[in-house]
Amino acid sequence: MSKYLVTGGAGYVGSVVAAHLLAAGHTVTVLDDLDTGFERGVPAGAAFVRGRIQEAADVLDPSYDGVLHFAAHSRVGESVEDPEKYWRNNVAGTLDLLAAMRAAQVRTLVFSSTAAVYGEPERTPITETDPTAPTSPYGSSKLAVDHMIGGECAAHGLAAASLRYFNVAGAHFTDDGAAYGERHDPETHLIPLVLQVAQGRRESVSVFGDDYPTPDGTCVRDYIHVADLARAHLLALEQAMPGEHLICNLGNGNGFSVREVIETVREVTGHPVPETVAPRRSGDPAVLVASADRARGELGWRPERADLAAIVEDAWRFAQRVAEESA
Ligand code: UFG
Repeated sequence: MSKYLVTGGAGYVGSVVAAHLLAAGHTVTVLDDLDTGFERGVPAGAAFVRGRIQEAADVLDPSYDGVLHFAAHSRVGESVEDPEKYWRNNVAGTLDLLAAMRAAQVRTLVFSSTAAVYGEPERTPITETDPTAPTSPYGSSKLAVDHMIGGECAAHGLAAASLRYFNVAGAHFTDDGAAYGERHDPETHLIPLVLQVAQGRRESVSVFGDDYPTPDGTCVRDYIHVADLARAHLLALEQAMPGEHLICNLGNGNGFSVREVIETVREVTGHPVPETVAPRRSGDPAVLVASADRARGELGWRPERADLAAIVEDAWRFAQRVAEESA
């Protein structure tokens, strides 16, 4: 069994991965400044240190076997308005983390990268060798870190993986009754927003553009269940080799339009979901669908909940639970 530091482990994906590491018998420390994370997201059984990634040197020591790095600002729109925040935290902060890892002789890293590094893709499905051309400082900051990690592997023998997530959704429920899901505030992601409409917490959902060159005119995305995503991180830890930087897309390879997502939410919840058409949101590519061939080949990864209805069912169960908690 191994010991891992999970930065951003009070956030959505970080908490689900921390829960999977614990379930596999590993020892976990979560480092999170709770800027966007929630302390109740830290799984029971993990040690918790409230702090920034710039302070990782205070936590890491040679007893750690690796780091899973999720702590980052992740709002595309905000990054356009305040790019410095993204360079300072996501990029400079990760530089500090890599230095702390080197000093503590912790030589394995799995990094939370994103499909946003590809920008407006030239073709789909997107493979890892396709051009990277981010359209936001958020995407640029994640791509810069991918490059930084590649250099660290080549120069200093780090064993690393960058996992480029497509649209993460759904929630994770453990046998002991814990639930981990999306609690963003403000919420900007499609599935939780549509579920809030189904719950009667919002009047309607705005469809950002219905004149895209797609079958129903709305944007197409590749939704991946957060628990499937989490399992890929554990596989990446097993596969990481000193001096090598593995870059893998994580998606299901199936695209669903905004209208298909809304219709699935109606079917799963049995509630009406009024929709209105709004202008396009700037920076939204028409279609983002992953080729996950490399993750399948290199990691032996197989998604277990690739069905959109299954993803929405779990997200709905979590949204209902959050509503009960705050009632
Ligand atoms: N959408 C709507 N109405 C809404 C919210 C979203 O129509 O109220 C649409 C968006 O325009 C987009 C789709 O739903 O076409 C999905 O939007 P999300 O905001 O849920 O997700 P994104 O595809 O924008 O974002 C994801 C990741 C980001 C990443 C980005 C890369 O969440 O971290 O892909 O483009 F940067």
